[in-house]
Amino acid sequence: MKGRPLLPFGIIAIVGIVVMISLSFMGLNQREAMNADEEETEEVTEFEDPVAAGEELSQASCIGCHGGDLGGGSGPALTSLEGSYSQEEITDIILNGQGAMPAISNVNDVEADAIAQYLLSISE
Ligand code: HEC
Repeated sequence: MKGRPLLPFGIIAIVGIVVMISLSFMGLNQREAMNADEEETEEVTEFEDPVAAGEELSQASCIGCHGGDLGGGSGPALTSLEGSYSQEEITDIILNGQGAMPAISNVNDVEADAIAQYLLSISE
């Protein structure tokens, strides 16, 4: 008699543990699936309208140093680059930095290229 009544509890405990383990694995899978989704949507490979996208990206990444209207701040104005820099050179400055300007690491090369196109489009 002793010990016997414990058996059902043992079974319940094991079932409980198995359920908990499988739930946490399901959670892990979901999280991985969500991460995969995010990566897919974040990786921009082409813009339909690079100039418009570049304007938005420059608002997010450049105005802190180059001023709200890109007319100059702690960094120089970016409103008359035409003639001084080519699209490729601007893209290169964004991705790799230049002098006192650090590389901008939160944009990829397609986004940097879009910003370069925008900056040349507003160039006077
Ligand atoms: C942390 C501050 C900072 C940020 C953010 C920043 N820049 Fe700069 N940028 C500078 C500084 C400072 C210079 C001057 C660098 C030098 O020649 O020493 C500069 C120079 C430049 C130049 C060369 C301008 C010239 O007339 O020679 C370009 C082009 C440029 N930045 C583009 C950008 C773009 C586009 C972004 C956003 C993607 C950006 N920068 C973000 C600080 C910044």
